[in-house]
Amino acid sequence: MKSKLVFALSAASVLFAAAVVANPARDAIVAGFAAEAGVSTFSADAGRTMFLGQFTGGKEATPSCTTCHTNNPTAAGRTRVGKPILPMAVSANPERFTDPEKVAKWFRRNCTSVLGRECTAEEKGNFLAFMISQ
Ligand code: HEC
Repeated sequence: MKSKLVFALSAASVLFAAAVVANPARDAIVAGFAAEAGVSTFSADAGRTMFLGQFTGGKEATPSCTTCHTNNPTAAGRTRVGKPILPMAVSANPERFTDPEKVAKWFRRNCTSVLGRECTAEEKGNFLAFMISQ
């Protein structure tokens, strides 16, 4: 019991310290996409281009990521039914991209809505690189 508590406390302090600089959970997600894509770095510029891009392959109501997330990553967005979405930029929302299941679920859903297909591992990594740089 005691060792569990010590573990929980040290894990919490690691997370706290990580929120200021880097976050190991987020780094692991990015590393996973890099391994999957077979690349060693991602392009924040390519991520920006996808974020701001207008697409025709998906649903008519959602031609771009900015439809819901707005074209300012540090601003709050809105769902189609008007529910607020917290900012995507890591500087504005340090909890972004730290839960692998959440990241996978929303990439699957949003890429399908906007692009009409799933995003590639490289596209996902580029998108995260952009949001981490913002
Ligand atoms: C129909 C509205 C909508 C569109 C269009 C949209 N998103 Fe999202 N997105 C959401 C919502 C809602 C969430 C979940 C709520 C939250 O994380 O605040 C979300 C969350 C995410 C997440 C998970 C964030 C995290 O913290 O793990 C990623 C990644 C993401 N979106 C990427 C994209 C990309 C890439 C596009 C464009 C290809 C896009 N979204 C377009 C509504 C949208």
